[in-house]
Amino acid sequence: MRTVWRFHGAGELVFGWGAVNEAGDLSSRMGLKRVFLLTDKTLLNFGIAQKVIDPLEKAGIAVEVFDGGEPEPTLPAVLKAIEAAITFGPDGICGVGGGSNMDMAKIVAKVLAHGGSPLDYVGDDRLPGPILPLICVPTTAGTGSEVSGADVFTDPSTQLKLGSLSNYLRPRIAIVDPQMSVSCPKKVTADSGIDALTHAIEAFTAVDNEVFPLPKGQRSVYQGRHFFGDMVAEKAIKLCGQFLKRAVLDGNDLEAREGMALAATLGGLAFSNVGVAAVHALEYPIGGAVHCSHGEGNGLLLPYVMKFNLPERKKEFALIANWLGASTEGLGEDAAANKAVEAVEKLRSEIGIPGKLRQIGVKENQLHEFAIKSHSIQRILRVNPRTTSVEDLEKILRDAF
Ligand SMILES: NC(=O)c1ccc[n+]([C@@H]2O[C@H](COP(=O)([O-])OP(=O)(O)OC[C@H]3O[C@@H](n4cnc5c(N)ncnc54)[C@H](O)[C@@H]3O)[C@@H](O)[C@H]2O)c1
Ligand SMILES: [Zn+2]
Repeated sequence: MRTVWRFHGAGELVFGWGAVNEAGDLSSRMGLKRVFLLTDKTLLNFGIAQKVIDPLEKAGIAVEVFDGGEPEPTLPAVLKAIEAAITFGPDGICGVGGGSNMDMAKIVAKVLAHGGSPLDYVGDDRLPGPILPLICVPTTAGTGSEVSGADVFTDPSTQLKLGSLSNYLRPRIAIVDPQMSVSCPKKVTADSGIDALTHAIEAFTAVDNEVFPLPKGQRSVYQGRHFFGDMVAEKAIKLCGQFLKRAVLDGNDLEAREGMALAATLGGLAFSNVGVAAVHALEYPIGGAVHCSHGEGNGLLLPYVMKFNLPERKKEFALIANWLGASTEGLGEDAAANKAVEAVEKLRSEIGIPGKLRQIGVKENQLHEFAIKSHSIQRILRVNPRTTSVEDLEKILRDAF
């Protein structure tokens, strides 16, 4: 059966060394005069946010710098940002940072446009219309938030990470300049980098678009696996295989930084159209409870979920194994597919990401609750190539414990 598929990204993607210098021109052409720039103290101290502030100011734009961004942002931090933005009255928003700051910028841009609370838009395709013009400048190579239609924050009252999906959330402009990520410490490079790989692998092995299980009358930003998603996911996986370890081992390896910057953006384009799946659904409750970074949680879980999905995606896994540099020559279907799991396990350990949940503070008596919470995130789980029950999810977690 042939079905319709579509592909969204940022309105304009500007990629390359020195791309940030164009921030002023790009904003002026959009007619922006007052920009609320959301970043964090680390990026201000490192002089990284300044690389975006300077060209904006040179172009005559009034810039209000808000440095209250935080890793894995919580609702109170997001509310503070919204309050500061309302006081300033911007005509555009700029997010400078990793996924955390870019997501906060998205939430500010949507609440300023539509009012209400960030909680009102949690879920799939619930935003009624366009948000304030948004420019995103990633400083990590990982989340792909600069091109995605997603934002994530944690509600401390439920300890759950809440996500919102909408194509209106995609930034008008994504400026991806590899120089912005050169100062990333090893852990941030590893965690965000394996998030990019997770995005690409979950997209490349997702349920097919033709059979995407969307209940009648519901809408979804995710569409299941399709040609265009495969194309960008493949390149993203190859780039992670080539450059992730190098970027972690030597942060000044500029070729590796550039390769990972591209991998992250491509991974973002793939997952934000096709979808992410069980790895992400399992990471949300875990990250909300033990406060590991999103990438660390995903990287830890990825091989366990791959093992679970392997029977449905043997051909794809054999390809992934090759793209990550493993040889499958002369192997049968199962053994070749399993090479992908091994390759990810090897990469994970080489870049210093733990392989067991107990190492990141998870307690055995939390696993059942995590499985139940994860099972409730159907907008993500329905993207998985194998349907998953609470018992399946708990089994994956026990394996990973
Ligand atoms: N919206 C999406 O599509 C999407 C996708 C995946 C993940 N996410 C979210 O993104 C967040 C994770 O983002 P992340 O992995 O990019 O990390 P992050 O944004 O949380 O940043 C981690 C830390 O690294 C620091 N940092 C960032 N860039 C730096 C640099 N160049 N030099 C020095 N320090 C730097 C930050 O200040 C921060 O303290 C999570 O909240 C996750 O849920 C969003
Ligand atoms: Zn992710």
